[in-house]
Amino acid sequence: MEEKERIIQLRKELHAHNYRYYVQNSPTISDREFDFLMKELQQLEERHPDMDDPNSPTRRVGSDLNQEFRQVKHRYPMLSLTNTYNEQDVRDWFESVERGLAGEPFEVCCELKYDGLSISLIYENGQFVQAVTRGDGVQGDDVTENVKTIRTIPLVINQGTSQSPTLTGTATTDKQPSFEIRGEILMPWKSFERLNAEREAAEEPLFANPRNAASGTLKSQKSEVVAQRGLDAYLYYMLGDELPSDGHYENLMTAASWGFQVVPRNGNCIKKATSVEEIFDFINHWDKERKNLPVATDGIVLKVNSMRQQRALGFTAKSPRWAIAYKFKAERACTRLVEVTYQVGRTGAVTPVANMEPVQLAGTTVKRATLNNEDFINSFDLHIGDYVYVEKGGEIIPKIVGVDVENRPLMSQPVIFVRCCPECGTPLVRIEGEAAHYCPNDSGCPPQIKGRIEHFICRRAMNIDSLGPETVDDYYRQGLIHNIADLYDIRVSQINGDGTREKSAKKIVASIDASRNVPFERVVFALGIRFVGETSARLLARHFKNIDSLMTANADELQEVEGIGEVIAKSVMAYFSNEENRNIVERLRAYGLQMSLSEEQMSATSNRLAGKSIVISGVFEHHSRDEYKIMIEQNGGKNVGSISSKTSFILAGDNMGPSKLQKAEKLGIKIMSEEDFLSMISE
Ligand code: IVH
Repeated sequence: MEEKERIIQLRKELHAHNYRYYVQNSPTISDREFDFLMKELQQLEERHPDMDDPNSPTRRVGSDLNQEFRQVKHRYPMLSLTNTYNEQDVRDWFESVERGLAGEPFEVCCELKYDGLSISLIYENGQFVQAVTRGDGVQGDDVTENVKTIRTIPLVINQGTSQSPTLTGTATTDKQPSFEIRGEILMPWKSFERLNAEREAAEEPLFANPRNAASGTLKSQKSEVVAQRGLDAYLYYMLGDELPSDGHYENLMTAASWGFQVVPRNGNCIKKATSVEEIFDFINHWDKERKNLPVATDGIVLKVNSMRQQRALGFTAKSPRWAIAYKFKAERACTRLVEVTYQVGRTGAVTPVANMEPVQLAGTTVKRATLNNEDFINSFDLHIGDYVYVEKGGEIIPKIVGVDVENRPLMSQPVIFVRCCPECGTPLVRIEGEAAHYCPNDSGCPPQIKGRIEHFICRRAMNIDSLGPETVDDYYRQGLIHNIADLYDIRVSQINGDGTREKSAKKIVASIDASRNVPFERVVFALGIRFVGETSARLLARHFKNIDSLMTANADELQEVEGIGEVIAKSVMAYFSNEENRNIVERLRAYGLQMSLSEEQMSATSNRLAGKSIVISGVFEHHSRDEYKIMIEQNGGKNVGSISSKTSFILAGDNMGPSKLQKAEKLGIKIMSEEDFLSMISE
């Protein structure tokens, strides 16, 4: 076969495999075979630049170049829906449709209301050409490159069956459809949890809910970032001059056959109804079942099914008369604020908490909600005894979203943020430019002391796994421990419950003992210096090599370390300038903790990888990923997370992700096996 023909054939095949993998969840070839075909296509495309296709399957990986979003006017304005919260509103709407259609029979399409952000996708002759955000409804941002990386969105529509795809891109004479399709971009719960876990590890602020995460991601200037974040999309409305059918539901089914994802996999997420009772069956079913969906939903959307009838009903200034959104109500509750208490964290940050009369909210009883900080309290002019509205933000942490000022009890007292630490009485401080208040008494304030000990023993720090928060609290109350160094003084006889808990006491002492071998860089992390996370601790440990050099380093010396900025440098200096901290470090040294890099780490240091940016991908046989990270750094190289044209090579184990492979191939970046890497650094 001629190479150009092969390109067309491969594109067709890869689009179809992509659909089967991501939309249908039933791949017919292995990842490896997929990667092979992709590689072949990339090589052929490189040889035939005249065959360029912006919708080639090779274009899904995104780019690390910064982009600006152009403003694009919507062909049809993107309106919103009227929201309702009760049965009566739904009945009223149903009756208004009956009246509007003068008694003509009609069907209502019942759908899930996805809680993400709306998107408009334009297809011309079966090809994806543009994606625009809602913006102000009249015009939005052109986010085409970002949307292209969402694998469930077809780049080329499939008008054949999924078994024998007849995708466009060939010199076919069949007319391919042109249309606009709208839907919701979402971050599935799984991707959201993974993303927040990664951000927590990197000490970056967390996203409050999947909607914010999806929105932040879609607006990212680098499409490569979008490609890695696992966004998804459900399409809920097709528009255009020549639609396949007069039925909205039927159009969505056609869209599904073209390769669009219109409902989550869990089935019966869309239904046509002809009576209010059927509508309520659907609402009641999903009110309970939605917690099992892979994405967040916040209601049900009801649409008159016939497009002709939709046109007849028309729009009000803001929203269509032919549709309505029923919002699930259990998500918001109204209850009374009884008291505000304050929590003090490990770093001394003080968080106000609303204590309320218990109320049912999305299946659980809620009696506490975060109030964030003083500004938040003031913004509501909150008074004790107020009726407050509570919501579960993205169904995670309950939060107060409003106050019923009309029902405020007479003579009620405004909430005034505490001036002194509720735990130790020390006057609080508010750092300029920050919203939080801090208790500065870090060495005498109980929750800070216990928090630091809990941090010290955690798995990623000293990994003293026989201890947990309850035991720490218990030992602290007994006066056994006041700081992290006291742990090493604990004797079996002090914690064996007069002999009744001898076995567990021995285990605890043994695991504290074992922590003396934990490497220096984790000791630096375990100290709990503010802003020094795992990565900065490693950088500091590797640079200064021992605790004495680190303790005496000045701001300039600290900032010489790549990745250490002014904030961390100041915090490190503040930590070691405190005499109590220095005493603790001396005691830890005396107890035998690792206060310098090991011999092995010292001797392994080389400059073989100096100036090299290396991406690690896949599963390894000889060492863990973390060990490889360390080896790279020890040899002067830099471990980076994503592939770009600056990547020197990829250290690849088994099952390297297809998108990384694809990108590496595209940029011509060398892929190195574990064995080759090991022999290279041991030369
Ligand atoms: S139809 C003319 N269907 O809800 C209105 N919207 O205010 C067309 N949404 O921002 C919208 N799921 O992004 C429709 N199944 C669904 C939906 C849905 C979520 C969002 C949409 C819009 C908001 C409506």
